[in-house]
Amino acid sequence: MPHIHPKTTPIYQTSVFTFDDLNALEQYFEQPGQSYMYTRYSNPNSDELAEQVNKLEGGAGAVVTSSGMSAILAAVLGLCKAGDHVLCAEEIYGGSSALLTKELTRIGIEVTLVPTADIYTLQPYVQPNTRLLLLETMSNPLLQVFDIAQLAQQTQQHQIKLVVDNTFATPIITKPLSLGADMVIHSVTKYLSGHSDVTAGVVICEQQEDLQRVKQVMMVYGLNLSPFESWLAARGLKTLRLRMREHSSNALAVAQFLQSHPKVEKVWYPGLQEHPQYELAKKQGRGMSGGMLSFRIQDDKEAVNRFMQALQHIPFAPSLAGVATSISYPLGTSHRSLSPEQQQRMSITAGVIRLSVGIEEPEELIADIDQALTQV
Ligand SMILES: Cc1ncc(COP(=O)(O)O)c(C=O)c1O
Repeated sequence: MPHIHPKTTPIYQTSVFTFDDLNALEQYFEQPGQSYMYTRYSNPNSDELAEQVNKLEGGAGAVVTSSGMSAILAAVLGLCKAGDHVLCAEEIYGGSSALLTKELTRIGIEVTLVPTADIYTLQPYVQPNTRLLLLETMSNPLLQVFDIAQLAQQTQQHQIKLVVDNTFATPIITKPLSLGADMVIHSVTKYLSGHSDVTAGVVICEQQEDLQRVKQVMMVYGLNLSPFESWLAARGLKTLRLRMREHSSNALAVAQFLQSHPKVEKVWYPGLQEHPQYELAKKQGRGMSGGMLSFRIQDDKEAVNRFMQALQHIPFAPSLAGVATSISYPLGTSHRSLSPEQQQRMSITAGVIRLSVGIEEPEELIADIDQALTQV
């Protein structure tokens, strides 16, 4: 066979690797990272993805997982055992709070949801067995922006870990580890892969000790990502910087349009001056606010339905962060599992629509939204 020098990493679509003999096997254990044994433990494609994301987030290392949910699971199980206590911001993706409050509580991990108003005064919530605080840089779905540096001061003071879900912001906008967070997680399914064709997750750790724990959980729980999905995500990641600039400028244009529309009651976008954390978002986000926004029309499901049906080019898809714009409905999808009281407290009402703004021509998006709003 001739020498092959591929420009891009080939897909190592193999579940296992071979050894010449027992000496080679011993070498595998003595020199970790120098060779491969079994794809559930590590694979060149998942390693490449982990290295690239780690470089962007500036950590000590990263572990890729089969989904954003398994990334959160690996992070929490890496840090906690039965009897430990976890704090979680109440305004967070519904799946994350369901994982904590409905599943991890079943195996003896205590969970307290912290209302946004109390997030900077954690003292009353911290217990001797509290291990970590989990929150999102920009919350799903109403784009609350959290001051990571201020929160890190508090978590350090209480000697608990700060775990930040950076899915909405991405490291192009905010690098939580540089602001004092201990771990960052992503649903790679979203911006990092970027093309709505991958389900994946990643945990990036500031400290080696945490990294080894998360790796161990990933391997023994079998939370690994397949070679092909790793390859697709690594390919998408190469254009992250370009995409985030377009997502951000398009979303700002759409948010400004929506804000001036008489049928729109409220817009949540951190790039708007009216947003309560506008100054923080500007500072923490290096002038970009990402592609996610939410807005409210009249609180009537039928009006939302008419709006969706009238859209010509923007599909209703209960996910986000692809290159093509889509809308979602938090009350019926991402935050469906919350109680009606929680939904109300978080302002997730019947008229709230979440928009994931893609990288198309902004004029086309605005024209489509404009004509659909006439149906409301
Ligand atoms: C902010 C955030 N974190 C985590 C997840 C879970 O990721 P996945 O669907 O890849 O498991 C989601 C999913 O929508 C999300 O929006």
